Amino acid sequence: MPFLELRQVTFSYPGKSNPAVIGIDLSLEKDGRTAIVGPNGSGKTTLTRLMIGILQPSGGEIYLEGCPLAGYSLAEIGGRIGYVFQNPDWQLFCSTVAEEVGFGLTNRGYDPQTVAEKVDFYLDYFELAAYRNVFPMYLSQGEKQRLAIAAVLANEPEFLILDEPTIGLDAYRKRLLEDYLHKVSRLGRGMLLVSHDVSFVNRMADRVVTMKNGCLESDRRERQYGL
Ligand SMILES: Nc1ncnc2c1ncn2[C@@H]1O[C@H](COP(=O)(O)OP(=O)(O)OP(=O)(O)O)[C@@H](O)[C@H]1O
Ligand SMILES: [Mg+2]
Repeated sequence: MPFLELRQVTFSYPGKSNPAVIGIDLSLEKDGRTAIVGPNGSGKTTLTRLMIGILQPSGGEIYLEGCPLAGYSLAEIGGRIGYVFQNPDWQLFCSTVAEEVGFGLTNRGYDPQTVAEKVDFYLDYFELAAYRNVFPMYLSQGEKQRLAIAAVLANEPEFLILDEPTIGLDAYRKRLLEDYLHKVSRLGRGMLLVSHDVSFVNRMADRVVTMKNGCLESDRRERQYGL
């Protein structure tokens, strides 16, 4: 059974005459690293928002492990699918960097000692330890991006959706992110990566889905794309 399955999914934003996504059929397995690529405005972000239930399809159905997504609460979906927004400013809301990383764990009832250990690990890995008591909005764009990713990864979700995760990351930090995502993947957890970054997609994805004008244009499982 696929982890996420979209059947003929269409979505239109209110007041817009053309749908942002049109008739999408797509199955994502629980493991594997799928990339979604395509030009600006082709519907990539919209599709991922539909997958986590913050938008509801105007047509078609979405299933999470065989059950209609509409039957899950946003909190239930959020507990299973980690989502990194295209813009980290939409995601960060705590008063310190450390709190941001530990928020999900605390919320899920982990004991303070475990939360502290995991927070330290993710702050170290993403080189944010020096900023642990800083207000997240004071970070640079690349630091905010690392924090948004660290905060989602710290929850160790079954499946990850990352929308343009390499934006603002320098080459070294991009490699660190790739290494970490490969590690997550080896643990059998799946991910969907939305990206314009060809080298990132080539190094990360084992399947590349291309969108154009709201439709799926191609779905390829070969390793190399766009070179
Ligand atoms: N909140 C919104 N209200 C109205 N229209 C929207 C909204 N968000 C996106 N759109 C429109 O929906 C279409 C698809 O946008 P979407 O953000 O999904 O594209 P994208 O492929 O993620 O683009 P990018 O590569 O620039 O991130 C575009 O035409 C966009 O203008
Ligand atoms: Mg987008």
